[in-house]
Amino acid sequence: MKRDLLTLLDLTREEILYIVKEGERLKDLQKRGISHRFLEGRTIAMVFEKPSTRTRVSFEVGIAQLGATPVVLHAGEMQLGRGETVEDTSRVLSRYVDGIMIRAYSHQAVETLAKASTVPVINGLTDATHPCQILSDLLTIYEQKGSVEGMTVAYVGDGNNVAHSWILAAGRLDFSLRLGCPKGYEPDPEFLAKVPPERVKLFHDPLEAVAGADVVYTDVWASMGQEEEAQKRLRDFEGYQVTSELMSRAKEDAVFMHCLPAHRGQEVAAEVIDGPQSIVFDQAENRLHAQKAILAFLLLH
Ligand code: CP
Ligand code: NVA
Repeated sequence: MKRDLLTLLDLTREEILYIVKEGERLKDLQKRGISHRFLEGRTIAMVFEKPSTRTRVSFEVGIAQLGATPVVLHAGEMQLGRGETVEDTSRVLSRYVDGIMIRAYSHQAVETLAKASTVPVINGLTDATHPCQILSDLLTIYEQKGSVEGMTVAYVGDGNNVAHSWILAAGRLDFSLRLGCPKGYEPDPEFLAKVPPERVKLFHDPLEAVAGADVVYTDVWASMGQEEEAQKRLRDFEGYQVTSELMSRAKEDAVFMHCLPAHRGQEVAAEVIDGPQSIVFDQAENRLHAQKAILAFLLLH
């Protein structure tokens, strides 16, 4: 039976920990120049409906490092845009390639694609979730802190796709997630309902959310597809910027994380993202290593 990664609930705790450890191992092999072409001869399609820098490049480079061939497709240039169904597109791609990574607006469309596909499908971000991001964030936290279990992760800002995947991660691993979101921008209750309530706490005061946190995380206030709301959101998120003062409420050795792209002066102050507690570029690098582990896990197991 083929396996997909559409949300973190597709993986057990043990599988998440395996991917984190395998990502660390592949990172070490890569750094030491040791070949690890586990997917030699395979082909992976990458379909993009939205822009991307990190996901596009880290997957493409990772696929090449594993000995496989990436095929990058822009949804607007495919027959999808002229009315070919998602199901037919999926059936056709499944005849050519060994795996499909897709970044799309609709999470449901990705579920439809996965259902019709005979090869593993990986969610490279939808409006609802971003599982690959959180798997590489977990790798980064394990690298920096040894574990995430027993820790406190504070997420400040919009209850968006990244926040939803953090919530699902807290459903699988034993850490405490404190969300600080403005009223009206809380995460979708559908995600909160999927995890043990004691693991996730929702606040409207960002200072309260970050109290005693080991990790302070934020993301953009207007996600891809929300450009028209950007001005209103700037007003509604006032007071939710991760500043040095906010960081000082977290643990002294707390790290600052952001999935990027970032907007200095909006969701994060420049002095924080460019300061000593920030690990955002390690985090970005780890997209490469974690995704290689995801690909190897899904295609070889
Ligand atoms: N963090 C992330 O997914 O970045 P991109 O949008 O550049 O892929
Ligand atoms: N929430 C952001 C994440 C970008 C990686 C977005 O969806 O645009």
